[in-house]
Amino acid sequence: MSEYPKTVTLKDGLKVLMDVKRQENIEQSRIFFTSMPPEDRLYLRRDVTSQKVLEERARELADGRAFRLATYVNDEMIGEANLDRPLYGWTRHVAEMRVVVARQHQGKGVGKALIREIFSNAVRLKYTIVEANVIEEDTKVLDLLERIGFHREGVLRNQAMDFYGKKHNIVVMSFNVDDMWKDLSEYYHSFEIYKT
Ligand SMILES: CC(C)(COP(=O)(O)OP(=O)(O)OC[C@H]1O[C@@H](n2cnc3c(N)ncnc32)[C@H](O)[C@@H]1OP(=O)(O)O)[C@@H](O)C(=O)NCCC(=O)NCCS
Repeated sequence: MSEYPKTVTLKDGLKVLMDVKRQENIEQSRIFFTSMPPEDRLYLRRDVTSQKVLEERARELADGRAFRLATYVNDEMIGEANLDRPLYGWTRHVAEMRVVVARQHQGKGVGKALIREIFSNAVRLKYTIVEANVIEEDTKVLDLLERIGFHREGVLRNQAMDFYGKKHNIVVMSFNVDDMWKDLSEYYHSFEIYKT
């Protein structure tokens, strides 16, 4: 964890501070989430403006069920990446990631920087599958994840209900880290064969 906090320079030269959340600052998260437009919050799994959810998020971080990174500009939180970490059970090798960026800072590369960083932390924490559950209408995120190398595992029909009561399909996207190492080792191996 010694690499954090670190400064990340984005494409327009904006410098953001990225740090691990060691404990949840409920007030700071409340300000961040309540200032998001409802159409962005629609894509989030839970109503992150509710006190109950904010408190549950703090517990998840405290007891190790979540790992979080946040980005800041002048001490203001402008983005967050979350990794849900199952500690035991069937899916203990599968971590689920979620990323959210404040509207006024979207489109500057903050989301990509957070995804890159949370993904490398998932690998560091020895998860071999990284998953993202995305609402089918969130095409921006689906395209981005596919470009990074995530695959569509399947669609859970009508399994998400937004705060208006409307149901949406969830697209389960996953990245298999073992497959990535296998592909890389085959790639290097092919060079060795070429050399001999
Ligand atoms: C999804 C989200 C995290 C992306 O954050 P961001 O900081 O805007 O992302 P980036 O600036 O790094 O852009 C990532 C990609 O999104 C796409 N993108 C960015 N802004 C866009 C826009 N205004 N319109 C369409 N696509 C856009 C681009 O493909 C971009 O990749 P590129 O730069 O290689 O072309 C952010 O839009 C968000 O918080 N949305 C609401 C919550 C959400 O949907 N979270 C995902 C749940 S997993």
